[in-house]
Amino acid sequence: MLHPLIDYVTVLDFGGQYAHLIANRVRGLGVYCTVMPPEDFLGGPGDRAAGLILSGGPQSVSDKHVQMMRLRLEGYRKPILGICFGHQLLARLFGGQLAHGRERQYGPTPVRCDPAARLFAGLPAGQQVWMSHGDHVSKLPPGFRATASSDSCPFAAYEAEDRPVFGLQFHPEVVHTPGGSAMLGNFLSLCRIGTPWVAGSMRRRVIEQTRAAAGDSTLFLLVSGGVDSLVTLQVCIEAVGAERVRSLHVDTGLMRLGESDDILKFLAAEGFRHIEIERAEALFLRELAGVADPEKKRAIIGRLFVEVLREKLRTLDLGDHWKLAQGTIYPDTIESGGTKNAALIKTHHNRVPEIQAMIDRGLVVEPLRELYKDEVRLLGRELGLPQALLDRHPFPGPGLGIRLLCHDGKTPVPDSFADQPRLEKELAALGLRGRILPVKSVGVQGDERSYRHPAVVWGSGGKWPGWPALNACANRLVNQLAGINRVVISPEELGDARFELRETFVTREGLDRLRRVDDLLHRRIARIPEIWQAPVISLPLFGPDGGQVFVLRPVCSKDAMTADVYPIDFGLLAELAREVRAIPGAGALFYDITTKPPGTIEWE
Ligand code: XMP
Repeated sequence: MLHPLIDYVTVLDFGGQYAHLIANRVRGLGVYCTVMPPEDFLGGPGDRAAGLILSGGPQSVSDKHVQMMRLRLEGYRKPILGICFGHQLLARLFGGQLAHGRERQYGPTPVRCDPAARLFAGLPAGQQVWMSHGDHVSKLPPGFRATASSDSCPFAAYEAEDRPVFGLQFHPEVVHTPGGSAMLGNFLSLCRIGTPWVAGSMRRRVIEQTRAAAGDSTLFLLVSGGVDSLVTLQVCIEAVGAERVRSLHVDTGLMRLGESDDILKFLAAEGFRHIEIERAEALFLRELAGVADPEKKRAIIGRLFVEVLREKLRTLDLGDHWKLAQGTIYPDTIESGGTKNAALIKTHHNRVPEIQAMIDRGLVVEPLRELYKDEVRLLGRELGLPQALLDRHPFPGPGLGIRLLCHDGKTPVPDSFADQPRLEKELAALGLRGRILPVKSVGVQGDERSYRHPAVVWGSGGKWPGWPALNACANRLVNQLAGINRVVISPEELGDARFELRETFVTREGLDRLRRVDDLLHRRIARIPEIWQAPVISLPLFGPDGGQVFVLRPVCSKDAMTADVYPIDFGLLAELAREVRAIPGAGALFYDITTKPPGTIEWE
């Protein structure tokens, strides 16, 4: 329940990937913020809000949305800000028009802002912002004026002249829009907030919530060894006492080289007790045999975690007095389609149906479910966990199982692509060549999932145009070519050499090869502080000499919601590619240069 004296703004959640991130940023700016589905905004706390923010969403604006909001916004005279889908919805509601994107826009985009506009007060006219949309506003409502534009989006922002209504086609809430916080701050300053909100200690709040959620149950936790699970473990111990916390590390066989043993050594050294290990490699590999579809692999891995857990609980004989604690963080829930209107991007392992059924029965405790990665690290620091542990790169629960891309050997894949001529034309301007690859990976475009092909690009004689030109080129390619959602570069010239797509499944042999390549690359780039996470992916593609193709995907991020490309030194990249080739069975190394969006950090 909100205290009646606290002034707050409300985010209406239309299902955008960043709806809760908006609330998070608003709170970071000292204003309390609630999130609710738009359907519930009437007659509740929503319409007492000092301001409203309409989030992004995966769908196109329909008449139904317009009617729903017309009803709800009638008589609402306080400030309203529409973001992305919200920007388009408000434009339609007040009499403007929308069009389906001739050109889609995902990732970094330069815009020209009017510094006299209220949202851009104090900001320079030229800004870099993060876009993710297909539709756009093609005609402004009467009495509205454009306050920002980009080359392909004339109404990237607007304001109404006679009422406090604003729209931003781009996302001010993501860290990759550097002026975004100031824009949100300008909006909040129009909302007449009397009482600022100060967050209490995260540690106290999370521990109290966990204690209440646990009741008198024993907490049972699967510890992967990553930051999220170890912070969760520490929270559980502080909430209910070490005697009521049991934990299990499952060695799925999908871990990195030597990782399970390292984790156990580390936990023992830190004095954690009641941790057991279950060696379940044979079970996981048996169930994954012959499965190529990424969502099926995710579902199997998630289900097996639950099976191993149930078996363990049976032997522990805790009866009904236990609950499962999970280190789920906010982005995991949202990408799994976790809010009412959100689209499914991918099913995170802690959201498979078996777990969902336990959640519905009140058997799951998730202390970190409202936090982003950077907040988990801060909480870890408040809890006194060692910095070296908190700085570890994130590693997904399904592990290398989703980094080893498979192919069933049957599903036909085209060997020529309609986008190829445009790709070549675009690259020729920079002296580059490229080809679309016969594999697919997951991406997120305009709050919706995409499953498309990557394009591989190479220079002649190892010559590259430099990172700014390369980034701009990758951005243009993924925005303009409908069939691709990623761009990778090859430090080696590929010429006319073709890659053969072969039947590939998750096997010990394939995992061992991936582990060796992953280990080599991580040792070489581990000390680059700008790199937030660097997945290594094996593709079901094999070069003329039989060597398998690998991808290195280092990203710069803060919260995994958006990510930028790490501009590696091209000489170092060529060296890494030579070292990878020396590993038996390994061939070419590609380097992923796709921002998120439109690419996700992982490939599956
Ligand atoms: P994406 O690929 O969605 O990843 O950009 C965002 C972050 O989430 C991690 N990730 C997972 N973590 N279970 C997890 O615990 C999963 O199923 C999962 N899938 C992706 C990913 O490594 C990145 O840090």
